[in-house]
Amino acid sequence: MIGVAVLGSTGSVGTNTLRVLARHRDRFRVVALTAYDSADLLKRQAREAGAAFVGLVQGTGVAGTGMGEGCLVEAATHADVKIVVNAIVGAAGLPATLAALRAGKRVALANKETLVMAGDLVLEAARRGGGEIVPIDSEHSAVLQCVTGARAGTLRRLILTASGGPFRDWPAERLAGATVKEALNHPTWRMGPKITLDSATLVNKALEVIEGHFLFGLGYEAIDVVVHPQSIVHGLAEFTDGSVLAQVGFPTMELPILYALTHPERLPDDGTRRFDPVAAGPLTFEPLRRDAFPAFGLGVNAGCNGGTAPAVFNAANEVAVEACLAGRLAFGRIPDVIARVLEAHDVQPAGDLAVVLAADRWARERAEAACS
Ligand SMILES: NC(=O)c1ccc[n+]([C@@H]2O[C@H](COP(=O)([O-])OP(=O)(O)OC[C@H]3O[C@@H](n4cnc5c(N)ncnc54)[C@H](OP(=O)(O)O)[C@@H]3O)[C@@H](O)[C@H]2O)c1
Repeated sequence: MIGVAVLGSTGSVGTNTLRVLARHRDRFRVVALTAYDSADLLKRQAREAGAAFVGLVQGTGVAGTGMGEGCLVEAATHADVKIVVNAIVGAAGLPATLAALRAGKRVALANKETLVMAGDLVLEAARRGGGEIVPIDSEHSAVLQCVTGARAGTLRRLILTASGGPFRDWPAERLAGATVKEALNHPTWRMGPKITLDSATLVNKALEVIEGHFLFGLGYEAIDVVVHPQSIVHGLAEFTDGSVLAQVGFPTMELPILYALTHPERLPDDGTRRFDPVAAGPLTFEPLRRDAFPAFGLGVNAGCNGGTAPAVFNAANEVAVEACLAGRLAFGRIPDVIARVLEAHDVQPAGDLAVVLAADRWARERAEAACS
């Protein structure tokens, strides 16, 4: 029995994870669950899954819980846990990812923000502690599935697909007046509000390009993005001989979650809709409109600049998204806030966690000011 901790169990990826785990009780045991403040749902989940440890960052009402931010690291390093599913949203997931990797755990990572903020430090923690990162993001899971079994050095290029979000074909002028409600109406995926907004600005795709760089060790020039509105082809891997492999399927997070738990093995599972190429077609691909979605280019540039730039990009975006969801910032102003913060930032090498966290704090203050 493999012990699993699900950090962020009450969210979109978290609840999908518990659904997958419930189908495989003979293989996996839920040891620990955490949430931010959704005490009632967390309690119900803990009861149903039989979790020994529950952690709530804010609030009360769950007996026997770990409380405060420390509960995330406690859950992630629990002695009975082998796999930590990190489904927390945002920078708050970083300490638990680092702690789990240092303790030699597998981190099934949905929380891409932590790799973006501190990719080198996260990889270093895995190397030193003997831990391992397996992506849950469907695009990176697709690439991992394509490259598993391939010889080192034979991967030449990644192609990540993007649905294009709700504004894929909107003219740039119209985008400036888009509402939050329109931005939250994603055409192919049902996800938490932050990643849904990130998909509408295409910040999410920039985060994924940076995530791909760290996960697969390719330079930014070797990572391409193509818009694929049907979200059937999740990612493609081009090899040095020119061959391209793709992973396909109807959009569901349950498959990449299951694969992150079992990689490189596969477990028989009938829980998801079986693929039907005729029902899925026709499949179309188009270039990403960088001019209409400037936040994408800002993110990729931050990745290319390296050091503290990606952490600053991420933090500025988190603040802008929060302000937008709270009705304090127009959707169309998110790229502008990110651009202003990045412009003012003096990029530092990011070899030290204190430097990354200082850059993150600095960017949050700057972004708050830029939102007002
Ligand atoms: N949703 C998807 O399909 C999808 C796909 C690919 C990647 N991802 C990535 O997966 C991560 C989670 O996304 P999501 O859509 O599942 O988000 P979500 O639905 O908003 O869920 C977030 C989870 O994190 C918890 N949380 C929020 N703030 C926290 C904090 N400061 N400290 C500790 N826990 C906190 C929430 O607890 P409460 O419920 O108590 O607030 C909830 O359990 C993100 O990094 C996202 O980019 C998501």
